[in-house]
Amino acid sequence: MAYETILVETHGKVGVIILNRPKALNALSKTLMRELAQALDAFEANEEIGAIVLTGSEKAFAAGADIKEMATKSYMDVYREDFITVDWERVSTCRKPVIAAVSGYALGGGCELAMMCDFILAGENAKFGQPEITIGTMPGAGGTQRLTRFVGKSKAMEMCLTGRMMDAAEAERAGLVSRVVPVDDLKDEAIKTATKIADLSLPLVMMTKESVNRAYETTLTEGVRFERRLFHATFATADQKEGMAAFVEKRQPDFKNR
Ligand code: HXC
Repeated sequence: MAYETILVETHGKVGVIILNRPKALNALSKTLMRELAQALDAFEANEEIGAIVLTGSEKAFAAGADIKEMATKSYMDVYREDFITVDWERVSTCRKPVIAAVSGYALGGGCELAMMCDFILAGENAKFGQPEITIGTMPGAGGTQRLTRFVGKSKAMEMCLTGRMMDAAEAERAGLVSRVVPVDDLKDEAIKTATKIADLSLPLVMMTKESVNRAYETTLTEGVRFERRLFHATFATADQKEGMAAFVEKRQPDFKNR
């Protein structure tokens, strides 16, 4: 499928989506978010794909929702079209793992999009921020909620109220990103990490992802109960038998995604 605002690549079992509006620092237009949702649909439906990497350019992962597109919208416009709800939610409903590889700016909706992914690998030049307040609005794609869960109230509140950006080192200390790598290595490192996941059993990866995500939705007791049920369910898979047999027999497992 030919896209206008993104590039799509396949590296073995890894699907890579590259945000590609360089002149607008990958501002997240309606078209871009529609195409991103379509690319995710395609990778999710493709049985050969086990993990997805979402990345941008060296200068910008994404500098936010497209301000030029939003600027003149009325309340009725955004309410009636349920602005940003449909396609923006697509990343967080993806059942396959999605890794954000963030280089440069991840601002506003760009930061929110990165946080919808399962984890964030950052280039040393990454800058995260929620500057919406400085242009007369506020985060609208989960920023006040996800950032607070990632980095705690104090940092999230300061960032949302002042628009201050966090650099990669601070983002790693605060728990927003899993690792920081040199910018030149970012894409390769993200693909390598995604390949490691894609070589495992997809159903077990999906169950594990679902269980970790549950931690953000429920109490500890309910979350542990949910985990226990899924853990028991893994014993109904052929891949659990294969994985443990391979360990005992001192060989590599041959997972069949069953
Ligand atoms: C539309 C954008 C844009 C954006 C940058 N551009 N960000 N266009 N929407 N979010 C465009 C600029 O207008 C400019 O186009 C070109 O990209 C290069 O940007 P510059 O500003 O010239 O680059 P630079 O001086 O390097 O500054 C980089 C920057 C700055 C610090 C990232 O661009 C910036 O502050 N951008 C806006 C960040 C922001 O406020 N994001 C939150 C958006 S609100 P021209 O045509 O002039 O060359 C949001 C709401 C989320 O995300 C809630 C729901 C999703």
